[in-house]
Amino acid sequence: MPIPLIQIGCGGVGQALIQQLLSQHAALAQRYGIDLAYHALADSRAVYSTGAPLTLEQVQAALHARQQGQSLATLAGAQVGLHWRELLPVSPAIIIDVTATDGMHPALVQAVQQGHRVVLANKKPLTADYASFTALTAHGATRYEATVGAGLPTIHTLQSLLDTGDTVQRIEACMSGTLGFLCTALDDGQSLSAAVLTAYQQGYTEPDPRDDLSGTDVARKALILARSCGLAWTLDDVPSEPLFSPELAHGSVAAFLQRLPELDAGIAARLAAAQSRNAVLRYVATLELGPQPSASIALRELPLSHPLAALRGTDNLIAYTTARYPAPLVVRGAGAGPAVTAAGVLTDVIATARELATPE
Ligand SMILES: NC(=O)c1ccc[n+]([C@@H]2O[C@H](COP(=O)([O-])OP(=O)(O)OC[C@H]3O[C@@H](n4cnc5c(N)ncnc54)[C@H](OP(=O)(O)O)[C@@H]3O)[C@@H](O)[C@H]2O)c1
Repeated sequence: MPIPLIQIGCGGVGQALIQQLLSQHAALAQRYGIDLAYHALADSRAVYSTGAPLTLEQVQAALHARQQGQSLATLAGAQVGLHWRELLPVSPAIIIDVTATDGMHPALVQAVQQGHRVVLANKKPLTADYASFTALTAHGATRYEATVGAGLPTIHTLQSLLDTGDTVQRIEACMSGTLGFLCTALDDGQSLSAAVLTAYQQGYTEPDPRDDLSGTDVARKALILARSCGLAWTLDDVPSEPLFSPELAHGSVAAFLQRLPELDAGIAARLAAAQSRNAVLRYVATLELGPQPSASIALRELPLSHPLAALRGTDNLIAYTTARYPAPLVVRGAGAGPAVTAAGVLTDVIATARELATPE
């Protein structure tokens, strides 16, 4: 029986996922006996579905349209304005959220309660209210590896530690490719404003670089890790240090970019102080998970001997200090990019499909 997939989002990650699914379809069928079949694809304008599993040719046509910068709405049979939840089949489907959209959680929770499964690259459904997090993740109904560290086995590692009875005492992590890029540029002698401008021009930042520089994205990842450890936290429990002053929080992106040099002197002074102590600056999320759990998400001075000090460029590093791993267990590697992120999503889709295909 084909396992129906409903993919919401056909941007950078969504397109890479379609490509990987198409290229792995036959190998997965042979290796595990699973037949992954798109039931619907959705972008912000339309849902593409024919009522039957989409053929490989139809999926290829949809991918081609998206690669040409067209919406799915341009495909014959696409339905503009339809919500994907109207297309949920009777048998359990895997709903894949590769959007960056707020407000997806109510429909996803409803789908889980109807017996469907969810795979997320989108962090927002897991960082809304805590009740939605528990409803989504109850009985392992939702997998979310790609929400933290893209394709790195970050969540899998954490869940394995917890499932086998280890005690996670602390998580220390650099989880933003963009902020990693900026810290490396500072190490190399660039000013913060020049580094942000380069990152912006090369497309490493969000369209509004303040979304990276505020630390909010890192805070969402930290919240997902904390909630995965059983803490009933909200975003208020993971405050992050923004790298810009409150006066720069408002106004257009162009105005922000123009005023960027105002940030240089403060960061340069912090860097010089760190360097005088043989240290570097890194944007670090630290979760203390002892009897009084706490979080800190900030630009920190780290001695050169610290594992996070050696990190360069857009790589991520997540270090788990546990009862069994007093010298931390470290996961490190590329933490962004459509291909690695899609691979993280596909790994979750395969694991979910294998469960669904196993007779109960
Ligand atoms: N890129 C990375 O390196 C990376 C790494 C880790 C995690 N992630 C996460 O992966 C997710 C996707 O990232 P991305 O880079 O692929 O984003 P993207 O290129 O901006 O693509 C987002 C897609 O979502 C669609 N969309 C938006 N609202 C929708 C709605 N209400 N219903 C259906 N589709 C909707 C958009 O449709 P339109 O094209 O019609 O606007 C677009 O196809 C994000 O949550 C991101 O944080 C990305």
